[in-house]
Order: sequence, then C-alpha cells, then structure tokens
Amino acid sequence: MKVICPQCKKEHNIDESKIPVGATVAQCRACGHRFPLFEPAPEPAPEAEAPKTGPRRIGVTLSKGGVGKTTTSVNLAAGLALAGYKVLLVDTDTQGQASYLLGQKTQAGLTELVTGELPAAETIVQARENLWLLAGGRSLAGVKRMIDRKDFGGELTLVEALEPVEKDFDFVIVDTSPGWDPLTVNVLFYVFELITPVSLEVMTLQGLVEFLKNLSSIQKYRSEVALNYILPTFLDKRIKNPDAILDKLKDLYGEYVCTPIRYNVRLSESPAYGKTIFEYAPGSHGSQDYRDLVRKITGRPELFS
Ligand SMILES: Nc1ncnc2c1ncn2[C@@H]1O[C@H](COP(=O)(O)OP(=O)(O)O)[C@@H](O)[C@H]1O
Ligand SMILES: [Mg+2]
Repeated sequence: MKVICPQCKKEHNIDESKIPVGATVAQCRACGHRFPLFEPAPEPAPEAEAPKTGPRRIGVTLSKGGVGKTTTSVNLAAGLALAGYKVLLVDTDTQGQASYLLGQKTQAGLTELVTGELPAAETIVQARENLWLLAGGRSLAGVKRMIDRKDFGGELTLVEALEPVEKDFDFVIVDTSPGWDPLTVNVLFYVFELITPVSLEVMTLQGLVEFLKNLSSIQKYRSEVALNYILPTFLDKRIKNPDAILDKLKDLYGEYVCTPIRYNVRLSESPAYGKTIFEYAPGSHGSQDYRDLVRKITGRPELFS
C-alpha cells in the first residue's frame, strides 16, 4: 500500500504483509516523523446527525384544473393520518373543496389565519384523528389582493402565517388552485416538495411543461423547492392511449414518476358523502392507489399491510 508522510510528503510503498499485527503507527524513513498508519474514519458531517426539525411541507400543484389535485391532497393527507402521522391540510383554493371532501362545515380558515382576524387555534379544525384542516374558500380572494398590495415580501405571506402553527405536525399538505396567482407563488415559497398530478391526456402534458417553466423562475429565488413526485392520474386502460403518455412521462422525468392513480368512479363519488376514499370504499382501486402513494412518500413499504 502507498503511504504519504504528512510532514515531508514523501511517498512510501509498504508491503502490507510485513506490517506487524496491531501496528498503528508508521515512521517516515526520510524525515523520521511518526504518524498514524491508517486514516481514521471521517467524522460524520454534523448535518447528517442533526435531527430534522419541522414538518415535511408538500405542495400539490399544477396550473391546470381537474387533474386530481384536491382528490390527491385530501386522500394523501387522510392516508398519512391513518398511518399515524399528524397532518395539517391547507387549502389555498378559493373553491374551498377540501372542506367539502372531508364533510366539514368550516366558519374560518386560512384567510383568518393570514389576516390575523382570529387566533390561530380558531382557524384550524380537526377533521379526523391526526388530521387538521385550514380551510380555503372565497374569502381567499381578499388575501390575494392583500398580497398584491404589499410593496415587498408579499411572496412570504404564507410562510409567515404557517410557520408559527406548523411545528406540531409531521406533514403539511397544501392544495392549490388551478392557474397561477399570488397564492400559488406563495405556496412555492413555503413548500420544499411538490407533487404534480398529471392527468393522462396529451393536453395536460403541455400543462406540465408550462408549470415547470414557471417553477424554474421561482427556483432562481428559492432553490429549496423541488418537484419530487409526478403523479399520473386518471389511468384508464379502456379508453384513450394512456400507456403512450405514461411512457413519455417516464422518458422525460424518470424516477420522479410515481405509480399512477387509476380512474376509479369511487373517487368521484366519495366527495358527495364527505368521506375520504379510505372511508367510502376501502377496498377500491382508488383506496389501493392512494395507500401506495402514502407508502412512496413515507418510504415505508410495510404500511397498511
Ligand atoms: N382517479 C380518479 N378517478 C375518477 N375520478 C377522479 C379521479 N381523481 C379525481 N376524480 C374526480 O375528478 C374531478 C376533478 O378532480 P379534482 O381532484 O377536483 O381536480 P383538481 O383539484 O385538480 O381540479 C372530481 O370530480 C374528482 O372527484
Ligand atoms: Mg382542486
């Protein structure tokens, strides 16, 4: 083996078979310096050991509507809660669909938290065991105007509102509205991870490309946000040609592409009952597919088995 003297930098070739058993120190024949024969194992980097603080912040987003964002936000949040995680679901859409899907009639929500009209505890409702909701709704239009009126720092409005309330949660899942507005930008300044549902239709692929362009303009200012999961939705083998689009997605985005969520009529029925897919149809494909997504996101393949 080759050994370099740390003092005079001379290189020595040592016959390993001649090193006495238990020897740990070498002496340089050139300068006489004694030094450890074997490099100590490097200390682990301090970051690697530091416990992770704060919840995982995940945004569910794509500019196009009707691709399964709200369905994914609600059922992913509910699935994580069933797995024992404490989850806060934040609805940033003026349509306020997340409350409806969970069968909650909410008096207050994200608007009142952002404006400070109500104490934080009165803006968050517990929707299920381990699952809390910050509801969206029409009043968020006022929040968007408020963000627009700020001279600077408007894009951090959501960060400032959520950071004080997020610490008790393991996950914060943020549903977004279709389109690109001041709240979407705020979501991209808050979350670290993104799930982008892509309905398996050609038009949505264009939506994805557009979204990625917008995202990269945000990443110039906030490099911590990354698109980690592309989630194909509405997989239906009977109609259209989903495999071609799925193959194209995999070609373009490789390991980011998750196992698709199949088209499942139970997923479109469950909102009318205010039930998650796990409550409404636990044995359905929809339920199986969202359980799979929970396993993927948590990296725990043993969950629900
Ligand atoms: N995998 C699916 N199979 C069948 N219907 C679905 C599926 N995912 C969502 N839906 C239905 O499609 C519609 C649009 O979904 P939604 O989650 O509201 O989309 P977005 O939030 O992107 O606008 C809703 O009526 C929903 O119930
Ligand atoms: Mg929606």
